[in-house]
Amino acid sequence: MAYFLGFDVSTTATKAVLVDEGGRVASTASSAYDLSVPKPLWAEQDPELWWRAARESVRAAMEKVGAGAASIRSIGLTGQMHGLVMLDKAGRVLRPAILWNDQRSAAECAEIRDVLGLERLVRLTGNDAFPGFTAPKALWVRRHEPEIYARVEHVLLPKDYLRYRLTGEFATDRAGAGGTLLLDLRSRDWSTDVLGATGIPLAWLPPTHEGPEITGVVSQAAAEALGLAPGTPVVAGGGDQAAEAVGIGAVEPGVVSMVLGTSGVVFASSSTPLVEARGSLHAFPHAVPDRWHVMGVMLSAAGSLGWFRDRFAPESSFAELDAAAAEVDIGAEGLVFLPYLSGERTPHADPDARGAFLGLTLAHGRGHLARAVLEGVAFGLADNLALMRRVGLDDISEVRVSGGGSRSDLWMGLLADVLGVRLVRTAASEGAAFGAALLAGVGAGHWADVPSACVDGVQLREAIVPDEARHRRYAELHGRFQKAYPALRDLMA
Ligand code: XUL
Repeated sequence: MAYFLGFDVSTTATKAVLVDEGGRVASTASSAYDLSVPKPLWAEQDPELWWRAARESVRAAMEKVGAGAASIRSIGLTGQMHGLVMLDKAGRVLRPAILWNDQRSAAECAEIRDVLGLERLVRLTGNDAFPGFTAPKALWVRRHEPEIYARVEHVLLPKDYLRYRLTGEFATDRAGAGGTLLLDLRSRDWSTDVLGATGIPLAWLPPTHEGPEITGVVSQAAAEALGLAPGTPVVAGGGDQAAEAVGIGAVEPGVVSMVLGTSGVVFASSSTPLVEARGSLHAFPHAVPDRWHVMGVMLSAAGSLGWFRDRFAPESSFAELDAAAAEVDIGAEGLVFLPYLSGERTPHADPDARGAFLGLTLAHGRGHLARAVLEGVAFGLADNLALMRRVGLDDISEVRVSGGGSRSDLWMGLLADVLGVRLVRTAASEGAAFGAALLAGVGAGHWADVPSACVDGVQLREAIVPDEARHRRYAELHGRFQKAYPALRDLMA
């Protein structure tokens, strides 16, 4: 047996997945770690944790199927995007990595917008400056930890630190590089304009590669530590969202992926870079050569229903809540839920946005509230899809849905009706690591290209078709939902 190995350096664990030559998951293992929060809204991690967890997870995954070192043909890397890892000249870590969910750099985002102008920043990079992104964090270190900044020689993303430990090479993938805010979206390489304006030296950044490209091979020392064979090729891989999209088969223009997890991600690939003028959507290169993607992130999607269940119906299962919501008519008798429980990223880039139930009456009970939550999240996802149509993605033929929320038949039916498009459930339980393993298989020459790997690897389940009459009814209700946030924004802040 031969395998392709995918590593996912996520925020909570590093996961190793072995995929066989038929594109099926053969084995998976993960090793967890913590996130440190030195101050409110900060999030850091010691890169050594990723290395240790990679070692544990790959050994466990190989042991489960009795895979020998020589059976691993190639390795693909993915992981949490945007994180800042700073190394000195000798490749030593200078400070804990600052992660994607760290909010400390709002002032530096404003500074970047000031020096470049929002319009130029979005034109060059495809994106507005978010505190989660890498560049503003580097500027934060320059301002607050100048003695560390003075010693920096290399800046890496989390999964690229694992690559460095595996191969000794500095390299990154272009999908992940997009999330630094330092990449020129069109040329898919570092932007000398943005680097010049921010003062971040080009020499700190690793060469960029397409997702399936080989960036180096496993070193003797790494092979001994991880139980791998020296010389095993390591491909660039992709940021976790792009790699997850590969695992779902969202690699061709027109196929959209929605992940209905705690947060909700709407992801679409395109054959040209699509940019929302104010940078409301993230726009990055895809992990697929010559493809780009746009992405919207809702911070509380299935998380809204989880919150509602935990706080107001802890004795009920999700199936029971679904049953109660199914008793209630479309529109929950006038009740509207705004799903901005953790602030929002897309379409309203507003950390001060808040959740709301609007229009409560004595007639409303638990089933109405549950239904309003399901509908409110669906409207939020529809807002994301509408933004995508606005930037030119008008031939959306199919939405592939994965994540915990996709297990609910009621929610899927209602989502299809709200969106007015065909949904297809996917079996994507191994997420980004699976996509990274498929990219490794392409890099090793086993599959001719990423779409061919997806034909073998991606398992689609049943389709859910929208009902025309219900779609029209939901279109009216969606209009009402869309009026609520602008009307309440000032009160929320
Ligand atoms: C993407 C993003 C998250 C992180 C963590 O923009 O912020 O997906 O990559 O998983």
